[in-house]
Amino acid sequence: MPLKWKIILINLFEKRIFVHYYLLLLKKDFMRKKIIAGNWKMNKTLPEAILLVNEICQELKARPELINIKDLEIVLAPPFVYLNECYKLIHEFPNVFVASQNCYPEESGAFTGEVSVNMIKSVGAKYIIIGHSERRSYFKEDYLFLARKVLAALKHDMKPIFCIGEVLNEREASQHFEVIRTQLQESLFQLNVVDFEQVIIAYEPVWAIGTGRTASPQQAQEMHAYIRSLIAEKYGDETSQNISLLYGGSCNAQNARELFSMPDVDGGLIGGASLKVQDFITIIESVI
Ligand code: 13P
Repeated sequence: MPLKWKIILINLFEKRIFVHYYLLLLKKDFMRKKIIAGNWKMNKTLPEAILLVNEICQELKARPELINIKDLEIVLAPPFVYLNECYKLIHEFPNVFVASQNCYPEESGAFTGEVSVNMIKSVGAKYIIIGHSERRSYFKEDYLFLARKVLAALKHDMKPIFCIGEVLNEREASQHFEVIRTQLQESLFQLNVVDFEQVIIAYEPVWAIGTGRTASPQQAQEMHAYIRSLIAEKYGDETSQNISLLYGGSCNAQNARELFSMPDVDGGLIGGASLKVQDFITIIESVI
């Protein structure tokens, strides 16, 4: 074979290998992350918030294994008013971020008392919790309003942590799968695939929130597998494998490891236990 042809063949072969490794790298980047997010809800004064974050930082510094894991993210969601203070305390950690607990979907204007995505982004947050059951029930936030919030978050490159979950009556009437399907279809499944891959979903059965009554690992796994199957149906297998699915609802230092050992549970959205330093750290340790 003439040398010229040999060179062309070698080049092609090398390019193929290059493309192959490039795709592998890309795929690796897309692999779903493990995430532990603490939703502080309406708790703590500013000095208390600073103390809590400082204590969490100290514990993390003493455990470098928790801050050097590429696929683990730790998220703190304090009330709006402390976001920037908390951000300043954590921003040196490569895998610790702050989140707001809510947002308003409009950009700016006469919406007294509301906070826009751009404002949240400007104080250092990277995530926004959207659709928490407390917002759905106390503030009557409906599917469409939540869909608008998700779009607003994505428009500003913020990551929504989108909460879904059934109430006790619905589970007892075996309607939980249907409820979850509707919540996803009506607020998230209008997204294109690129946007959808930015979303983190938190399954929070309402009957487990703040009640001390956790879903069993089997119940959590069953629902997470169902959610992943719906995503696969809508966006394909690869996307469904790339989405992080968190469990929330009375997740604590004692039950976290068993919940996180389930194949489709990628972490947790933690309420009460995220306010106690040692418990929160134990929960983070339970996911790795
Ligand atoms: P608890 O962990 O206190 O049950 O709260 C869960 C929750 O609502 C997190 O968003």
